[in-house]
Amino acid sequence: MMRLCGYLRLAVTLVLLIPLVRSTEDDTHNNNYYIMIGVSGGLQEGFPAHDKLHYNQGSLEDEVVKAIFLGRGLVRGYKAFLDLMQEGWREYTETDRAVINPNVFASGCQEHANEYWIYLVDARQVMSVLNHEPRHLSMTPDTGMIELEAEETHSLVRDFLTTHIRQQHRASKKKIDKVAIPLVTAVYFNAASHIPSPPIRIHDDGTQVTNFPDSLALWAGVDDRDRTMVVDYHKSCRHHRREECTDAALEEATQAYNRYWAGIRQAIGKAEEKRQKLEKQEAISGPPFQCQKRVKFGVGKEEDPDNTSTRVNYPMTGAQIESVLKEIGFQVDLAEGEVVDPLSEKQDEPDL
Ligand SMILES: *[C@@H]1O[C@H](CO)[C@@H](O)[C@H](O)[C@H]1NC(C)=O
Repeated sequence: MMRLCGYLRLAVTLVLLIPLVRSTEDDTHNNNYYIMIGVSGGLQEGFPAHDKLHYNQGSLEDEVVKAIFLGRGLVRGYKAFLDLMQEGWREYTETDRAVINPNVFASGCQEHANEYWIYLVDARQVMSVLNHEPRHLSMTPDTGMIELEAEETHSLVRDFLTTHIRQQHRASKKKIDKVAIPLVTAVYFNAASHIPSPPIRIHDDGTQVTNFPDSLALWAGVDDRDRTMVVDYHKSCRHHRREECTDAALEEATQAYNRYWAGIRQAIGKAEEKRQKLEKQEAISGPPFQCQKRVKFGVGKEEDPDNTSTRVNYPMTGAQIESVLKEIGFQVDLAEGEVVDPLSEKQDEPDL
């Protein structure tokens, strides 16, 4: 009997190993562990710090484990500010004032909501993504939660989480509508540098929705589409649309990109001139936050019948990610860090 079990186990192991032996470039990341995190700021694609989301083992291209972008998720009880760098800090320069960081605070207020960009990041990189960030930031495992049913939450994020949770806990048929994941969260309110991010939308119930790129563009009076023109150009050139890859198109994209950053620098310069006024003004909108209504942070108790929340804060393998995506009709290119919709010719590119 023992013998038979042994053989059986060996056979099962071999069968399970077959897909790994296939070893195309993609499969090299199948055994890697990823952790899902929510970021809102310079780590998002199209901003200078984005590369910090990729794990870099060495100097070779194939030693990089790229972060996988799933889409946006709305987190309630979070209020966004822009952190206007001050003289004497690492990122402050008078000549190139392009650095402005969002500091998103756990306000606990129902009326504040921020759109986070949800990424799967190599587990070895997660603790390092904030290294060399300017200041005031941390990551918290279960304060804010992604609201799966919110209109702002992308369907890929919702379907990925629902399917993953179902795969993890086969028995549970309970509906889950809030999922806590590690979120980049600001820990220190600096009255002399924080400007409230303008809401991009206000719901009928009074919810003010922010997100880093769109709130920043609103504040600075620039067009956020300009920011990703160069990234978009290279992406569309990689996939299928080669006829659009002309020097003129690249030139145009580069001009748009430069226009965007010139606008940001100009807005920062103007805001600096009015810095003295900030301190007084911000004290009103900063912590402690005066909420109209409070949200509940943290996950509910297992035995509570009303608990519709859960946590996803542990490592999952590339193979697990692949399996979840397969169940909802997507593929993943782990080497490129991209989710692919096999039904459509082009990549599934939820807006950057
Ligand atoms: C309820 O709470 C526990 C932990 O506190 C969590 O693990 C569980 O998945 C939650 N959700 C549901 C729907 O039971």
